[in-house]
Amino acid sequence: MQTSRIAIVGTGYVGLTTGACLASLGHQVVCIDNDESKIQMLRACSIPIFEDGLDSLVESGLSSGNLAFSTELISSVEGANFTFLCLPTPPNNDGTADLTTLFDVLHRLKGKFASGSIVINKSTVPVNSAGVVAQILAQEVAVVSNPEFLREGSAVHDFLHPDRILIGCDDLSAGEKVAALYSSLNCPIMFTDPLSAESVKYLANAFLAMKISFVNQSALFCDAVGSNVLEVMRGLSFDPRIGSMFLNPGPGWGGSCFPKDTRALTGMASASGEPMSLVTEATATNEKHIHRSAQLIIEAAQNNEASNVKVAILGLSFKADTDDTRESPALRILQIIQDNYENVVAYDPQAKVQNGVVNKRVNTMDEALLGADVVAILTEWDEFRNLDPIHARNLMRGNVIVDLRYLLNKEVFCDSGFSVRAFGI
Ligand code: UDX
Repeated sequence: MQTSRIAIVGTGYVGLTTGACLASLGHQVVCIDNDESKIQMLRACSIPIFEDGLDSLVESGLSSGNLAFSTELISSVEGANFTFLCLPTPPNNDGTADLTTLFDVLHRLKGKFASGSIVINKSTVPVNSAGVVAQILAQEVAVVSNPEFLREGSAVHDFLHPDRILIGCDDLSAGEKVAALYSSLNCPIMFTDPLSAESVKYLANAFLAMKISFVNQSALFCDAVGSNVLEVMRGLSFDPRIGSMFLNPGPGWGGSCFPKDTRALTGMASASGEPMSLVTEATATNEKHIHRSAQLIIEAAQNNEASNVKVAILGLSFKADTDDTRESPALRILQIIQDNYENVVAYDPQAKVQNGVVNKRVNTMDEALLGADVVAILTEWDEFRNLDPIHARNLMRGNVIVDLRYLLNKEVFCDSGFSVRAFGI
């Protein structure tokens, strides 16, 4: 494989993972960010996010010399054959993506690219952004759309073992050069036009979000008719047309992508004259589900006869194996519970939460369980999955567990004197 010189602009979760992984594939990578303290930290191999395997990749990249960190945008890009744009595109109030940072960077870089170099857009950007970027750069370089499909918590694994690599390009020779960067990875590479590549990213996330909304709504249906949602989903999973992944009921979907991307997609769809009502409905179903989940915990607390009922919330991140709490259903549910009850404690092994959001956060699961009347599991951390019923029974005052991640063996817990609640079990 040929070694390429790559500049990655933006060292957020996508940029940093992309940079560290491309360096591990043997390329010369410089990751750029305007946050001086972050770059200092990264140079010292201190990783600002909790992401399995990322620290060791950064460490080996730094020691092999394949990976460097810099605040020097222009000189780094001038020396590169490939520039990946991994910049934040946060939602505006109306849900559309805010492209200010992307455009600022492009205006600064205009005229600075090495001849023949290629700009690659990895950020999730509105359909037609590759065209807009090419226009800003006045055709100075080829622009390729190469959306990322990384999941937080398994981003390194997903990068190194992708389902597919998607390359949207008008100039096939530029697309093939980008594909060559990944030549040591074993997966299908799909070449398409930039508009289609950009659409895939939004529609893939919307499809997955709809799938989870469907599963969560099915849990309510199963609850109403007396069937078991876990058995029902197992029954569905054998059909390859449905697939076995993303069939886990939960407290609702969240994170940095699904809420933002579904909002942006429904906005784009409406503006195009073809509203995507299924996606709008999936979002509304998700909102309702987050509230129904909170209500289930409140009902459990209301039915408790203890004085000053203690509710213990297990899990704050939007899913396991990440410290990310952006648009986390767990955090939203916690806030609803805190608005209704005073004696609420929360525990999460990693979640990063702004000061003032959690009234009382404890450092261990045992502290959370101690004297609790109602325990609610909102994130699927292994630590919660491995909860020992006897141990929990000895620590708790009450016996109710609202298991909104469906982690516990209900029969075993019921045999130990617990009442385990969730929709459809
Ligand atoms: C998602 C996409 O999966 C990824 O391809 C894209 O690049 C970014 O957005 P991520 O946000 O990291 O990744 O998380 P993901 O694992 O997809 O989960 C999203 C949400 O759905 C989480 O709140 C999770 O708890 C929930 N979920 C997922 C379920 O409730 N049930 C499931 O079966 C799967």
